[in-house]
Amino acid sequence: MKKVICLTAIAAAFALATPAYASSILDEYRNQAQQENPSFNGFSAERGKAFFLTQHATGKAETPACTSCHTNDPTQSGLTRAGKSIAPLAVSVSPDRYTDQRKVEKWFRRNCNSVLGRACTTIEKGDFITFMQTQ
Ligand code: HEC
Repeated sequence: MKKVICLTAIAAAFALATPAYASSILDEYRNQAQQENPSFNGFSAERGKAFFLTQHATGKAETPACTSCHTNDPTQSGLTRAGKSIAPLAVSVSPDRYTDQRKVEKWFRRNCNSVLGRACTTIEKGDFITFMQTQ
């Protein structure tokens, strides 16, 4: 029980330290992308859109694309494989999206693995959020 309380306290402290808006998460990805690649010249909503709509099909057979669960229209609700509703990914309809770094990282990790069979790159993640901010 003590352990649970302790972990909760750490999680709460981390949440307080975590930036609470999408643009600061993007700033972090931007810094990271610059470090990884000196010729990086900014995220692209166009590339993010293409990434979102592409049938990658290099991960699990039942999830060839991000759209397999999130649909082709980011302003619409999606569906999990188990049939549970997923709130839209577009920032215009879900303003609380991309505001919790741990949540963002957790789902990129899971979903990129399912769809691509690998982690998403920093540029893919930044492009994706940049696109969703325009939606
Ligand atoms: C198997 C179904 C499924 C697929 C395929 C999928 N997602 Fe998701 N995604 C979810 C679920 C479930 C959530 C968490 C529920 C929620 O946030 O509403 C989520 C949440 C997210 C979030 C968190 C957003 C936030 O609130 O901060 C991101 C980012 C995300 N997905 C990106 C992607 C990307 C990129 C792809 C394609 C590479 C993808 N997803 C493919 C089911 C899926």
